[in-house]
Amino acid sequence: MHFFDYKGSKLYAEGVSVEKIAEATGTPVFIYSAKTLARHFKAFDGAFKGAKHLICYSVKANSNLSVLKTFSTLGGGFDIVSAGELHRVVKAGGDTSKVVFSGVGKREDEIAFALKQNILIFNVESPEELRAIDKVAGRLRKKAGIAIRVNPDVDPKTHPYISTGLKKNKFGIETKEALKEYIYAKDNLKNLKLLGVDCHIGSQITQISPFIDAIKKVKGLIGKLRKEGIGVEYLNMGGGLGINYDDETPPHPSEYGARIVEETKDLGLTLIFEPGRNLVGNAGILVTEVVYTKEGSAKNFVITDAGMNDLPRPSLYDSFHNVIAVNKFKGRRKFKADIVGPICETGDFIAKDRSITKVKSGELLAVMSAGAYCFSMSSNYNSRTRAAEVMVKGRDFAVVRKRESFDDLTAKESMPRKLFAGKKR
Ligand code: LLP
Repeated sequence: MHFFDYKGSKLYAEGVSVEKIAEATGTPVFIYSAKTLARHFKAFDGAFKGAKHLICYSVKANSNLSVLKTFSTLGGGFDIVSAGELHRVVKAGGDTSKVVFSGVGKREDEIAFALKQNILIFNVESPEELRAIDKVAGRLRKKAGIAIRVNPDVDPKTHPYISTGLKKNKFGIETKEALKEYIYAKDNLKNLKLLGVDCHIGSQITQISPFIDAIKKVKGLIGKLRKEGIGVEYLNMGGGLGINYDDETPPHPSEYGARIVEETKDLGLTLIFEPGRNLVGNAGILVTEVVYTKEGSAKNFVITDAGMNDLPRPSLYDSFHNVIAVNKFKGRRKFKADIVGPICETGDFIAKDRSITKVKSGELLAVMSAGAYCFSMSSNYNSRTRAAEVMVKGRDFAVVRKRESFDDLTAKESMPRKLFAGKKR
């Protein structure tokens, strides 16, 4: 459920007309609904109300400071994958004692920064990383909380690029190896606290069964750890619960929560979750202006001022985003078209062979479900300034990231004299 809907013929974000926002900020512009963010967080959190749990929002999905602040105000923690994301959490006033740090390639400087910020847990993805964390913690005279990320070898039945829990994926440590590593750490790595077991199997998962399969494998490991005298406190089931982009029917968080609580209640552990898309995906839209339309014998094209640099998901994963007209014009027919951006690549498209209202140049389109992995994956390709981001709350809205300027584009670049000294030709 989200709060982007038509009032009469005009699309509104909560109580504000989308057209009004676009007039104020220009396009392309991302619009986030604060009420939707809160609603999604509460639905997820509420799904586990019977169990000890911590919701660590996965910052990578949308790392805007105002989005982070929204979740931190609601009591959320954060799942980070870089020191940069931790910097954002700190800046947004997030509680670092509720931060978990995932990722296969944490550098020692990132580990040190996280230790200094007293994060809760490092989700460890390799034996070498385990030793590196112990070493850095020793140097800083700190104890690092760790959970080994187990690769349970289950198929999450999602796009191959966002499947992470198969043996062939680069993530985590196989269950058997993980047991050996916990035992090794207990006996040898004295700067670690063995706090938990972690498992994240993929993203945009629309069935519950892969999560349950993963829990079954992880439970076996927890039993073995207990026999070895290793009593962990946390079970982290990662993120991955899918959303509705088109005609998917993902389980509601309450259904997912009930099944997971049922499967894990005998363990007596605190559950951690790292939802990203589920909290923000449908809480954001991208508004873009039609620059030109072009009708051809093979295809019709609607050319927008947003491209793959703003919304990379269709080009990267062939993913579907619903596209609707911001103003419903009476009597306007539909036609089939490719909705494409201005970037010089054939792969630059927002939608293909889509039946939409026959829009004209200067009119606005809204790309739905653009709150997750859109702005956070955007780039400056083709030297395009990144879009503005706006947050709406009730009848109010505010810019939460300004549109980049031309000066921003070149701010970090230089033409050092020594490279260009010498005779002019
Ligand atoms: N935890 C870990 C360790 C992760 O790797 C991820 C996502 C999450 C949590 C959050 O997953 P979510 O709840 O959002 O599914 N760019 C892709 C998605 C990449 C997901 C990467 N990891 C897309 O646009 O579909």
